[in-house]
Amino acid sequence: MPSDKIRKKISEETMAILAPSLLSPLFVVLLASTNCRGFEIKEATVDGIQQAFKEGSLTSRRLVEYYLDQIQTLNPLLHAVIEVNPDAVPQADRADEERLSGRHPGGGLHGIPILLKDNIATRDQLNTTAGSLALLGSVVPRDAGVVRRLRQAGAVILGKASLGEWGNFRSHRIPSGWSARGGQGRNPYALSKYPCGSSTGSAIAVAANMVAVTLGTETDGSIICAAAHDSVVGIKPTMGLTSRAGVIPISPTMDTIGPLCRTVSDGVHVLEAIVGYDSRDADATLAASSYIPQGGYRQFLRLEGLKGKRLGILRKGFFEFPKGSIYQEVFEEHFNAMRKAGAILIDNLEINNASIIRDAKKSGEKAVMLAEFKLYLNVYLSELSNSPVRSLADVIAFNNEHSAEERIADFGQSILLEAQNTNGIGPVERNAIAKMTRLSLEGLERLMMEKQLDAIVTPGASASSVLAIGGYPGISVPAGYGTNGVPFGICFGGLKGSEPKLIEIAYAFEQATTVRKPPSFKPGTSAFQPLKEW
Ligand SMILES: *[C@@H]1O[C@H](CO)[C@@H](O)[C@H](O)[C@H]1NC(C)=O
Ligand SMILES: *[C@@H]1O[C@H](CO)[C@@H](O)[C@H](O)[C@H]1NC(C)=O
Repeated sequence: MPSDKIRKKISEETMAILAPSLLSPLFVVLLASTNCRGFEIKEATVDGIQQAFKEGSLTSRRLVEYYLDQIQTLNPLLHAVIEVNPDAVPQADRADEERLSGRHPGGGLHGIPILLKDNIATRDQLNTTAGSLALLGSVVPRDAGVVRRLRQAGAVILGKASLGEWGNFRSHRIPSGWSARGGQGRNPYALSKYPCGSSTGSAIAVAANMVAVTLGTETDGSIICAAAHDSVVGIKPTMGLTSRAGVIPISPTMDTIGPLCRTVSDGVHVLEAIVGYDSRDADATLAASSYIPQGGYRQFLRLEGLKGKRLGILRKGFFEFPKGSIYQEVFEEHFNAMRKAGAILIDNLEINNASIIRDAKKSGEKAVMLAEFKLYLNVYLSELSNSPVRSLADVIAFNNEHSAEERIADFGQSILLEAQNTNGIGPVERNAIAKMTRLSLEGLERLMMEKQLDAIVTPGASASSVLAIGGYPGISVPAGYGTNGVPFGICFGGLKGSEPKLIEIAYAFEQATTVRKPPSFKPGTSAFQPLKEW
């Protein structure tokens, strides 16, 4: 339904309810009792939480206890969280003490609970396993680079979020959102539908108010698709803007770490805390550090952020919906909203070689992923302080030995086996990397330059490979809800380092359309049904 109409309807209804009661004593009583209950944590934003900390109507401890309670209640249904941190309450107490004593000014992520996708290493009581039983009990040598920054910012590590096991890189037959340790993650908006991923647990948990903010990772689509299908905001940063050190890899050519949050502003708070140079991911983070704007990213949360922006709509192969479908209707409405907000839409654009780019075999992406996965997973495993497995070969053997728990008969491990057959970066892989670079230069870069675009606009995760093979950033914002109840998103993508522009566009779009609503857990059938790809 067009969002303007929804908003109008809601405000009319609200007025109808409020108008008579404005003068009545009942209204005053209701208002007073709302104040007594204090701060409403459900759907709270980072800014709202910080304000409540400041006013003394909320503590980090109360926030952590609320979320732990939510996890206990909802996780048996949603399977979003693998582990909660036994240190979360003490960390919250420390943050409260620092703020109240004046030793820390507060603000940013200080005292804010965050869930980390289970492929992001923490050197604490939490395990880091990519959802696999093979890594249970492994001990990491140190926190991941992004975790070190989160702790410096004073964030509370609430626990580990589930994911598609091994970041969806074990087998094509593994259902989206399944891991041996986490079970089957469910879409909180339509329980019989998949959450899309692989950053599924992060998206589900933050959508269902089981945490304030989360981190996910993306190689090709894992943040953008999870954000779109679970009605949250996902920021996939430029490759190298955020350190990959201490994150279980797939492909360092493409891997990136980024937030999944309920609002663009929350995502920007998280992004700002985790970007920057890391000597353990030196080349990529040094190259990308020149993109970090002086004064950080929050200055780009501008209501008029769409004004004058040139947005390229990729229709062919991307915005292709049956005529009269809800998707077509809603996106046309959004395009109008963007025009009204001052954006210049350049329609019906095509990207050179789009069909090659979107076919991982033809673009070279698959060859690069397979070879890099083996190479860099083996490095990750060899650096662990302690581990039951030390190589990809060990992981494959573990899965065969624990085939019942890892459901090898049902799902297999074909991608792991394919990766094991590779032999480092040889001529084939070098050619593949060169091809990806050429496709990006002749594709997105040329289009952006020729049409002088600030961003491209695509539905769902349909542009994920365009963004993946060039290391480009993208932001997914909730765009609507299908007739089947499954949310869908709109993705703004751009050239390397264009986060400031993308944030302006995404924030202004979000504020103009206000699509996101929290899920309400209507029971669905238990059989899972496949999702549309985009
Ligand atoms: C980590 O895994 C071990 C099993 O190896 C388990 O005993 C422990 O409880 C796990 N940690 C958390 C925080 O769940
Ligand atoms: C991509 O498209 C351009 C222009 O259409 C063409 O010249 C080029 O050969 C194509 N590149 C690849 C790798 O196929």
